[in-house]
Amino acid sequence: MPKSRRSITDLILHLHPPTVPRETLRLTLSWGLGGMAAVLVGLLFLTGILLLLAYQPSTDHAYNSILILTREVPFGLWVRNIHHWSANLLVVIAFLHLLRVVLTGAFGQGRRLNWVIGLLLLFLLLASNFTGYLLPWDQLAYWAVTICTSMLGYIPVCGLWLQELFRGGAEIGPATLANFFVLHVAFVPGTLFILLLWHFWLVRRAGGLVQVQHDEQAITNRVPTTPHLIVREAAVGLVLIAFVVLLSILWDTPLLEQANPGMSPNPAKAPWYFLGFQELLLHLHPVFAVFVWPLLGAAALLSVPFWSETALPTGVWFGSERGRKLALWSVSVGALATLAIILGDNLLLSSVEAVAGNTLITRGLVPTILFLVFLTGIYLLLVKKMNYTRAEAVMSLILLILVALTVCTVIGVWFRGAEMHLVWPWGQGDG
Ligand code: HEM
Repeated sequence: MPKSRRSITDLILHLHPPTVPRETLRLTLSWGLGGMAAVLVGLLFLTGILLLLAYQPSTDHAYNSILILTREVPFGLWVRNIHHWSANLLVVIAFLHLLRVVLTGAFGQGRRLNWVIGLLLLFLLLASNFTGYLLPWDQLAYWAVTICTSMLGYIPVCGLWLQELFRGGAEIGPATLANFFVLHVAFVPGTLFILLLWHFWLVRRAGGLVQVQHDEQAITNRVPTTPHLIVREAAVGLVLIAFVVLLSILWDTPLLEQANPGMSPNPAKAPWYFLGFQELLLHLHPVFAVFVWPLLGAAALLSVPFWSETALPTGVWFGSERGRKLALWSVSVGALATLAIILGDNLLLSSVEAVAGNTLITRGLVPTILFLVFLTGIYLLLVKKMNYTRAEAVMSLILLILVALTVCTVIGVWFRGAEMHLVWPWGQGDG
């Protein structure tokens, strides 16, 4: 084997074992989602370095440097588009990868730490998207970051301090851009890279992807990583790259007018992946919307593998046929209930807002307790009355919550118009 080819094989074998179980090559086991996320991270690093050649991180020059990049630099617009689409797709793909891990029981014994690392990666890639959002210094960037950093201010005790820390002062300005630039090009990608290597290594240490339990024959039936796994990974990667390139040719990254602190757009929206939380702000007391609920959600997700019997049987989607039906039921109930609550609350708000009383209780404590009682009720109903396993009931609750967040995000992206009123997406131009 030529020396150069041997080096590539060696590198591959650092990330993968020399052989893998044939069973884990099945595309429908993982849909290649983790690999896709890795390819997108690669595209982001590559295009990010190219963008750095043209971008100038100061409030006086940032916007113009993007204009020059997209209008005058050969392929500049295209490189910016690839960076933009890869970043946004990465949020979607990482979310789907998380779902696949839940639905194939891949966060149990031997993979708990990797679940935690995965959640940290998710946090970092959101941070990476968000810090990059400000860099073009246009109206979209300025006001989205204003909205999000003002949300920070509602966190009890240290909220205002955190807000000032991120903004680099009381207002968004040159210091904020400098902070976000350093976070975006150095701190976040550096940490992400280290955690990614750890993530991959933990997959390898766990013996590769999850497999169907007690299937001795499948476990011992192994094939060489090159070419079997590598060819499949390359195929998924190349199709994904072709898709990103196509998106980047068809749709340009938005660039509005230069940031103008004196003129707020209406509606002023957070980036799309935070719109679920902005939607919560319309229904709950801010302390509960930006602090209590996200904290409860994050704590539940972080701890779920550490409670006993919460992971489904490994390697089988939804654990069983019964689990599949339960998942379908959970997604439908989650979507319909969230829609009903949003519409109901909208009517309630327009009719009885004046008699709302102490909103910390009426719009904070009461809905939180009701929500927790609802989730506990569902759990007990499934386990005690309908004989579902603990793992199936936990899967149902996770799906309910993630679907609710997805519905809130969809409403925030397409169905909120001026003053954040509910609108039809096709009627938004009429105001
Ligand atoms: C930048 C984001 C991420 C990248 C690049 C990434 C990459 C990968 C890759 C390549 C694999 C092995 C192949 C596969 O499962 O498709 C994997 C497995 C895994 N990932 Fe991720 N991941 C990311 C985020 C996450 C998140 C958000 C979670 C969940 C909280 C997570 C949890 C896991 C777990 C538990 C496994 C082991 C699955 C198994 O053994 O079957 N990862 N990841």
